[in-house]
Order: sequence, then structure tokens, then C-alpha cells
Amino acid sequence: MAEIKVTLTTHPKQKPQDESKLGFGTIFTDHMFLMDYEEGKGWYDPRVVPYGDFSMDPAAVVFHYGQAIFEGTKCYRREDGGLQLFRPEANIARMCNSAARMCMPELDKELALAGLKKLVEIDGDWVPHQEGTSLYIRPTMIATDAKLGVHASQHYLFYIILSPVGAYYAEGLKPVGIYVEDKYVRAVRGGVGFTKCAGNYAASILAGEIAEKKGYAQVLWLDGVEQKYVEEVGSMNMMFAYGNKIVTPALNGSILPGITRDSVLTIAKQLGYEVEEKRLAIADIFADAKSGKLTEAFGTGTAAVISPVGELCMDDEKLTIGDGNIGPVAQKLYDTLTGIQYGKLPDENGWVTKL
Ligand code: COI
Repeated sequence: MAEIKVTLTTHPKQKPQDESKLGFGTIFTDHMFLMDYEEGKGWYDPRVVPYGDFSMDPAAVVFHYGQAIFEGTKCYRREDGGLQLFRPEANIARMCNSAARMCMPELDKELALAGLKKLVEIDGDWVPHQEGTSLYIRPTMIATDAKLGVHASQHYLFYIILSPVGAYYAEGLKPVGIYVEDKYVRAVRGGVGFTKCAGNYAASILAGEIAEKKGYAQVLWLDGVEQKYVEEVGSMNMMFAYGNKIVTPALNGSILPGITRDSVLTIAKQLGYEVEEKRLAIADIFADAKSGKLTEAFGTGTAAVISPVGELCMDDEKLTIGDGNIGPVAQKLYDTLTGIQYGKLPDENGWVTKL
């Protein structure tokens, strides 16, 4: 494996003083990891350097045709002060799947993971201490060829940046309201919905802004063909509890295969919940919530962790789920998942990498 060159900053930044005000993704650490790719040569020059601007040609493919993919994973501080990562190899593997669909090169998985670990170790003091906080890790790959023809780039940049974060939603563990989007769609059959490409998020912003103006935290996307079936909430996969049964949309090619989704489904089965992945009609969700059969709704994601959903709104019909507090299923799953992530519970699935 290529050696990772390290150049440390001579101007370390001040770390956030008040960890209760971290918010999400606005503060960045002292260093970043970079490596370059050239067709025929592969990935080369892996390096950790001071965090800073890139210089890129204005004609770079990423700016025009959006060959850009990213990931999100986290580093957690245990009570004993030690640091641990949660399933970073799953993120690297998913990034390779995104890359294949976007005609981008496969990562050198071992090198990408080594770079991620090295960077987090170097900026380890930035991992916050307060409960519910973590160091968010954002691996990204972009196309850098300066060419205006619509073709796959032959050069790429892979980089990782780090951000100390608190809760993704201002509500924290309080249930959020979600607007069911029935005009715009996020993904279509045969498209790129299963990838973590930047364009999926760009396409979601308009609906997100409209929902925010109506007082909702995010939108729940329906399928792009019939607009009848539940897909996901851009920042999280959705789950619904019917007592002790958890139901979630099956992965169908247009939903992001969430690593937190997979972890929660695994944990749920281990805790004795019944789990079902299937096509879920939004009309059934509304009917089941009204009849009281559906007892909880919550989202899962790296940034969102487990976020209870207390209200769904569709066509100006408002549906309240639960009593305004997190429900018992979401709470149990949250405690178990975060217990493993923060090293308070045993890691029976081999998901944790101690640094
Ligand atoms: C993540 O949860 O890591 C994501 O990438 C979602 C993003 C909207 C913050």
C-alpha cells in the first residue's frame, strides 16, 4: 500500500468551546485527507494536509456534469476517552457501488480506509466529548478533468473532511414533522437513487425548502413512477412500528441502502422485534396511523441517527403519530445503536474499529 504523507498545520484552529452548540456540519478540523486518480495509473499521492481550499479548473467535469459522490460516517468518543469508528468499511464499499453507477473509479478500499483512520487519529482531539456529539467524517470523490464534452473524467480527487457535530435536527430526539412530497420525485426506476451522488441531494433542495416554509423538517419521498409508495427522507431511511413489528420500504434501487438502516434492522432482530421489508403504500400508513395500528414512525441515518417522526403532512392533511415524545421502539433502538457506537454496549456484530 502507498505510504500516506503527512503535512501538519502550523496554525491549529481553536476547537469549539461549547459542545452543546455544535449543530451540524459548519465547523471543520485542522486537516484533510486527499488522493488523486488518473486512468491507467490508479490512485496515487495519498496525503494528509492542512484543511484548506482547492484550486480547480472552472471546466472541471464535477462543476458541469456532476460526477460527485460522497459518504457520511462518524467517530465516537467512549467514556474512557478512547475513539472508535462504526462500520467505516461499509461506507467505503457503498462508495464503490456509487462510483460504478456514476462511471467513476473504484476506490483502493484499503488505502481509503487507512487514510480515513490516519486523518481521524491526527485530528482525534476534535472528537467532541458531550453526550450525543461525534466527529462526522465526509469522504468525497469528484471528477477533475477540464473538458466540456459529456464523458467520464479520467482524473478524480478523493478527499475526506471532518466536522465535530451535534444533532442533525434542531429538535434532537423530539419528534420531527415530515412533509409527504407528492409533486416532485427524488429518484426514478433505473436512475441513481441507490447511490450517494451529489445530484440526488441537489434535486431534493426545492421540495425541502417548500416543506421548511410550511414548518416541516424534511420531505418524505414517494416512488417516482406511481407516487404511491414510501421511499425515503433524503437524510434518512424510514421505519414504521406496529407494536413490536418494524416495517420499512424494501430496497428497490431507488432508495439509498442506509448503513444505519441495515444496523437498526440487524439490532431489531437481535432484540426480538419482528422486521419486514416490503413495498409500503403511503395510503396504508395514513390509514394504519388513524386506526391506531401504526404506533411509531422514525428515520435512520448516520447524521440523523434515529429520529422520531411525530407528524406527517400530505395534501394539507395532517397526521399525528404518537404523543409528541419518542416512542418505546425508537428509544430502545436508539439506546442500543448509540450504546454500541459509544462503546457502552458490547459490539456483538464486529462493527466497531477502535483507534
Ligand atoms: C448522512 O447521514 O451521513 C448523510 O449523508 C445525510 C446528509 C443529508 C447529511
